Amino acid sequence: MYTPERERELIELTRKLLKDLSKIRNAPLEEAREYAEKLREVIRYHDYKYYIQTSPVISDYEYDQLFRALRDIERRYPELVTPDSPTQRVASEITGAFPEVSHYAPMLSLDNAYTEEELKDFDRRVRELTGSEEVEYSVEPKYDGAGIALVYRDDLFVRGATRGDGEVGEDITNNLKTVRTVPLRAEFSRFGIKLIEIRGEVLISREEFRRMNEERMEEGLTPFANPRNAAAGSLRLQNPAEVAKRRLEAVVYQVSYVEPEDRFPRTHYEAVEMLHLLGFKTPFKDMKVCKGIDEVIAYCREWEERRDRYPYEIDGMVVKVNDRRLYDTLGFTSHHPRWAIAFKFKARQATTKIVSVVFQVGRVGTVTPVGKLEPVRVGGVTVSSVSLFNEDFVREKDIRIGDTVLVERAGDVIPYVVEVIKEARTGEERPIEFPESCPSCGSKLVKLPGEVAWRCINISCPAQVVLRLKHWGSREAMDIRGLGEATAKALYNKGLVKDVGDLYYLKVLDLVKLPGFAEKAALNLYNAIQESKTRGLDRVLYGLGIRYVGLTTAKKIAQVVDSIWDLKDMPLERLIRIEGIGDIVARSIKEFFSREENLKVIEKLERAGVKLTKTKLEKEGPLKGKVFVFTGTLKCCSREKAGQIVESLGGVFANSVTSKTTYLVVGQDPGRTKLTRAKQLGIKMITEEEFLEMIKDFVNPEDLKREGPREGTLF
Ligand code: IVH
Repeated sequence: MYTPERERELIELTRKLLKDLSKIRNAPLEEAREYAEKLREVIRYHDYKYYIQTSPVISDYEYDQLFRALRDIERRYPELVTPDSPTQRVASEITGAFPEVSHYAPMLSLDNAYTEEELKDFDRRVRELTGSEEVEYSVEPKYDGAGIALVYRDDLFVRGATRGDGEVGEDITNNLKTVRTVPLRAEFSRFGIKLIEIRGEVLISREEFRRMNEERMEEGLTPFANPRNAAAGSLRLQNPAEVAKRRLEAVVYQVSYVEPEDRFPRTHYEAVEMLHLLGFKTPFKDMKVCKGIDEVIAYCREWEERRDRYPYEIDGMVVKVNDRRLYDTLGFTSHHPRWAIAFKFKARQATTKIVSVVFQVGRVGTVTPVGKLEPVRVGGVTVSSVSLFNEDFVREKDIRIGDTVLVERAGDVIPYVVEVIKEARTGEERPIEFPESCPSCGSKLVKLPGEVAWRCINISCPAQVVLRLKHWGSREAMDIRGLGEATAKALYNKGLVKDVGDLYYLKVLDLVKLPGFAEKAALNLYNAIQESKTRGLDRVLYGLGIRYVGLTTAKKIAQVVDSIWDLKDMPLERLIRIEGIGDIVARSIKEFFSREENLKVIEKLERAGVKLTKTKLEKEGPLKGKVFVFTGTLKCCSREKAGQIVESLGGVFANSVTSKTTYLVVGQDPGRTKLTRAKQLGIKMITEEEFLEMIKDFVNPEDLKREGPREGTLF
């Protein structure tokens, strides 16, 4: 449709128009006519890039600026409006993969406000059109997901659709039925409603997004750029069973159509309250009815500040006139209702250039390409480098050095290259060449079967050693203040430390040898290292940097083993039984403990007095202070389950008999070691029946039977 030369021209023109925005605003009729034509040309082009090719070449914000410039001209000079102007329609997102359905009420967009002034203009217009002194607004978050419309007839969920072109959407009922927050039945009849169409958004929480991307990266798939893309992509999957695996959520925020008509809730607030009461996920608790625009502004600012703490991505606030009776008076433009506006938070996308690519060796040897950027402000921070993840990512997006790229930084999500702007290429761009040897130690890189990343497998690779030291000292791990990357590097370069075990043998006199370390700093670091000895088993496990063992996994492991040495010989199947540990994690743990050099580090830590055993928390409960060890097969349930019960009642579940054991519960075919040890130490032994008697008042017998799928197959 567009030749490469034409695309270049249009991008050039876009840049010029964006620079001329203030000129455009004040242009007299003839000049405005020319601008309007140019704006239409570029907007059509960007619509094509966005909707048809799904590879936008400008940010949403820039697009909006162009769109508004055109709309402003057409407002000032209505004679310049043409029937085919992009302002006269909503663009389509239909791909043809699903049947089409007509919405009961058109799904329009929202007008955007970027400044307080623009919110005040909106309020002025509303007051003028309705003749009110002060208007009541309902303000709620603007979710950054994929728009949907749900229809309920006679209390049943009968249809769910995407937005499509606003008039006609795609029927994705089956996919939406897998979303747990879409009730299949809701008692609208309680409100006298026979048929209702409601609007909402399908979302993925930031946490789920992170989990999904981690999984995708592990599987060698390219991560999603942001939760919105992840949600929209998931909704369009052709297989509902696949959709069900993604933890999608639906939030609803607008009633758009009701039969009989007189049952329309009187205010927007009441409409959302009704949805909330009927069990939908809604912004009810996060919305506020504001009197006048100043209260609206204050509420929007408050949310802008808390945006990053919200579990979902939000890109602004939606301000809606609360009283529905005013909707008719206010009406619609072809693009948006006049009774609502979106206050958009600062944009989180920007275009910039990749000036070079460097290769970083990670803590576990993964070599990652990192794009160095011409620094650019995105979402309130300056971004000057961006991970390009792996070779597949670079190839898929065809990223080259010298390329102009669209970069997004959503919330606490790391900066991400959304698209290469191919049209901006001059021919000078160079392909990214992947190194064959490690940039740190020079050993040959390998690509393990099934993995996307190139890895350096030299355990003594300096880059990895330094990062392992830094990780060990990090706040979530051993929290050694003063042990950052620079210090770790200096310790390594001076030959003082080769692994984390060596840290505990350093003397103050060694530390003063480090560049910039006076006696005080050396003493502080020495003390911080000594203090870290008692952080606990979970932190040690995390700090060791075993692949795939994050803090959560480390905590789970630390709950079920007594000492780090228990992991050394623990069979794979036993590891897999620990909640939250799958095959990949279990194998990684086994691999770690099978390496002699790792065991040596653990020995060094132990000799230095680093605590490598479990801290037994004294929880409240009827079994408080009692330590249970089980041996043999139980009739009631697995030992793991019995252990969970002990812990839920405040007791301690341990794996080996020590002098601290209160009871050894003896099942069928008990292990000799535990029995002998218990006898030696004079520990009280009880039967399974005696154990059940002890807990019978606190545990429902049904709970004992409820076993997970892997239960009962081990030991
Ligand atoms: S009301 C006619 N409320 O933003 C007005 N929309 O940019 C109907 N959105 O198409 C929309 N959060 O997909 C409304 N709290 C909210 C929203 C919201 C997100 C989306 C919606 C809409 C788009 C407009």
